[in-house]
Amino acid sequence: MENLKDLLCHQLKALYCVEDLTINYFPLIIEKIDEPKLKNALKFHLKETRAQISRLDAISKDLKFNNNRAEFTAISGLFDQMKEFMINVKNSNVFNAGLIAELQRIEHFEICAYGTAVCYAKELGLYRIASLLQETLNEEYGTNDKLSLLAKVFLNYRAVEQV
Ligand SMILES: [Fe+2]
Repeated sequence: MENLKDLLCHQLKALYCVEDLTINYFPLIIEKIDEPKLKNALKFHLKETRAQISRLDAISKDLKFNNNRAEFTAISGLFDQMKEFMINVKNSNVFNAGLIAELQRIEHFEICAYGTAVCYAKELGLYRIASLLQETLNEEYGTNDKLSLLAKVFLNYRAVEQV
């Protein structure tokens, strides 16, 4: 990597990795959730994720960036931890509350990486790309807020009595 554009491409590779893993794992997670509001939130985000990948494709084309997928072990580790959590927690109220924490680790990663990518794109004068990335960043904030709300309004409370 020799310049800021290379760093932007590096961020994009990490973002492809997290979005691809979301596409792979979300259907399995959605299937395991029995709480309708949480299930709907994830179904909605899965749809958004498909659009987010299309934006990354458009950006890669614009940048003539080779979007060969790379694995980022820190990112796949977050998904592995979530899988392990899902296998180990049997009580459904505890599962729902804890799953939100697992999902938010991933959301926070995305918010951080998209935020950095927007910043790099603006610095490089790539305003169309910056606005596509900002659109996705806003969706990630939206998902994170929705998850926080579900946890705070009732899912954490429901898990209290399970001890
Ligand atoms: Fe995403």
